[in-house]
Amino acid sequence: MAFRVAVVGATGAVGREILKTLYERNFPISEVAAVASGRSAGGQVSFGDERILTVKNLEKFDFAGWDFALFSPGAAVSAVHAPRAAASGCVVIDNTSQFRMDPDVPLVVPEVNPEAIAKFGKRNIIANPNCSTIQMVVALKPLHDRFRIKRVVVATYQSVSGAGKEGMDELLANTKVHYVHDKNPPQVFQKDIAFNVIPQIDMFMDDGSTKEEWKMAVETRKILDPNIAVIATCVRVPVFIGHAEAVHVEFENPVTVNEARAALRGAPGVIVHDNRVDGGYITPAESQGEDAVYVSRIRKDSTVPHGLAMWIVSDNLRKGAALNAVQIAEYMVAKNMLAKKAA
Ligand SMILES: NC(=O)c1ccc[n+]([C@@H]2O[C@H](COP(=O)([O-])OP(=O)(O)OC[C@H]3O[C@@H](n4cnc5c(N)ncnc54)[C@H](OP(=O)(O)O)[C@@H]3O)[C@@H](O)[C@H]2O)c1
Repeated sequence: MAFRVAVVGATGAVGREILKTLYERNFPISEVAAVASGRSAGGQVSFGDERILTVKNLEKFDFAGWDFALFSPGAAVSAVHAPRAAASGCVVIDNTSQFRMDPDVPLVVPEVNPEAIAKFGKRNIIANPNCSTIQMVVALKPLHDRFRIKRVVVATYQSVSGAGKEGMDELLANTKVHYVHDKNPPQVFQKDIAFNVIPQIDMFMDDGSTKEEWKMAVETRKILDPNIAVIATCVRVPVFIGHAEAVHVEFENPVTVNEARAALRGAPGVIVHDNRVDGGYITPAESQGEDAVYVSRIRKDSTVPHGLAMWIVSDNLRKGAALNAVQIAEYMVAKNMLAKKAA
């Protein structure tokens, strides 16, 4: 069986990675469409080494007869067009924040809560979590299963590609002007991102948190366990691709570093790279283009009764977005879920 797949937001950082991931993983495709705004309609994007797709305009795109639509055009656009696609029978897997906390929409990381996918039928939409949440819950899941997590304190170091292609352009442009002793006024970020770090991702909430920090807390609870307390500080750093997180976890039960390492080593999607020597850990630049969530710097946190500290790194465009979405589609194909829906 092969499927008709539309990629919406195909000219963006996530959309291009979705096309790449579908091709590399040999997803069973009979037809693929690249869809974006009227601005880029008629332009071209590549699908694999040999195929060029002509970009179609979302406003005019008819989703009837398409099996999957993998959306990443931004929340406001998904709000309008994802329900339209879903109503025409196409299963939507949405990368934006628009539907994540909708109780009728499953929020899924296949290594963590694949069983939630079965509830997709209410709205015909499945939400992909935020990139920082995805990599954290992949690593926390095996530890929660064995030792029960009570509380997580996390500081993120998030790359500029988390803000899309314009974020990457701004880092490059602002870095260049620094070398000629000039400055570019920031447009995508709140302050100059070159040679700097910015403790704000997304808008401020009433309690002083940013929306990115709120997302990490509420999404972790929806995916993993509603009883886990999470406090996050989300920071933008001048790295092109790859997010890092310093994560401090308090458990209900005793846990040793060796037990945690063993639990993580057997977990799907996780690679433990933790050598206590110079350079014996993974950095964001090294995660670029890789599928795994890397866990390094695992050590005891003796400031709480049962605590661990660790360093979690992954490619935000890949596991943090495109790969996770494609894995959801692969799971639905493997479980024959589209056929059941048609029946
Ligand atoms: N970057 C990440 O790490 C990441 C991770 C998880 C989730 N996400 C989410 O994914 C979404 C896209 O992120 P991105 O990084 O790929 O952004 P991006 O590089 O700016 O790309 C945005 C894409 O959306 C399209 N688009 C914008 N307005 C549109 C409209 N009115 N109609 C149709 N298409 C439209 C753009 O097409 P044009 O070329 O025609 O403008 C482009 O293809 C965001 O909601 C983001 O929060 C991003």
